[in-house]
Amino acid sequence: MTDAAADIESGLRALSESFRERLAAADDEPSMRAARAEVLGKKGELTKILRGMGKVPAEKRREIGERVNAVKAEVEADFEKAVTALARRRRQADLEGRPEDLTLPGRVGTPRGHLHPLTRVKDDILDIFASLGFAIGWGPEVELEENNFTKLAFPPDHPATDMQDSFWVTVEGGEPDARVLLRTHTSNVQVREMMANEPPMAIVSGGPVYRRDDDITHSPMFHQIEGFLVDENVSFGHLKGVLTEFAQRLYRPDTPVRFRPSYFPFVEPGAEVDIGCVFCNAENGSRASCRVCKGTGWIEILGCGMVHPDVFEHCGIDSERWTGFAFGLGIERIAMLRYGIPDIRLFFENDPRFLAQF
Ligand code: DAH
Repeated sequence: MTDAAADIESGLRALSESFRERLAAADDEPSMRAARAEVLGKKGELTKILRGMGKVPAEKRREIGERVNAVKAEVEADFEKAVTALARRRRQADLEGRPEDLTLPGRVGTPRGHLHPLTRVKDDILDIFASLGFAIGWGPEVELEENNFTKLAFPPDHPATDMQDSFWVTVEGGEPDARVLLRTHTSNVQVREMMANEPPMAIVSGGPVYRRDDDITHSPMFHQIEGFLVDENVSFGHLKGVLTEFAQRLYRPDTPVRFRPSYFPFVEPGAEVDIGCVFCNAENGSRASCRVCKGTGWIEILGCGMVHPDVFEHCGIDSERWTGFAFGLGIERIAMLRYGIPDIRLFFENDPRFLAQF
């Protein structure tokens, strides 16, 4: 081998060795790139070595050329390996280090929550009745069939008592004849309060109730308010006065209210209360096309009536001496009307984008 070829050979060997040392000493990617540029760059060490190429005899050039390419490939491969290993070491150190990312920007303030829209509407309704002199009562969600249906004078074949409409509960070790269900309405509060207390009394209560229903206006769990008043000489006039006052405090002082005969087993006579549609009051003339009241101008908001004498008797109250009225309403329905919410299921999905709007 001629001297020129031997010089190039040894130059290449020294170069790849010293490159490997420099790579090992580099502890970040920029220094690795710099080392690579020192070797392979235009003005780098390899270029310098190749200046001796002119003196290499023609028959040797091919062999030396191949060596040069091999060394270049080796340098590139060493470089890639070192960079990858560095990234892996960094990542490993990150994973083993503290879990907080101290470079993230801080959050400004702590976001504040607020009451669920249904809780607000429930509190507003209870407040109105409390200010009219009603006390707040309570009843359980898991209830005896007796208190949910029987004492409220539901005939045994009433469609509401159908197996399909209620969630029946099996109580382990319970009394064999006591049938238990998730209450289908808050009217169980009437029974419990009347059994436990002597009249006069005026009580409201609110909470969850359960029915086997599920569509855009019905949910298997929803909320009701129940109220009733028992005293001597209570008339339908008292019922109308109290519920009209309630509706006008809940909506507007000039809200039209009407009472329509209806049937509930535990009242006689029974009625439903409608208010003038809050979405299309006559002035804007849009009644015919109103989807909420279906063009009738009226929206039903509650059921009510005079407490049936049978209910008094079932609860140990003398129906010759005492009379009273009762009413019940769905909280979701009131909230949907108040806020213009089209789908009842939105209340229970807990999507912050929905809840943040109240
Ligand atoms: N419990 C009835 C229901 O769930 C609502 C109701 C109607 C309650 C009339 C009452 C009443 O107290 O008098 O549909």
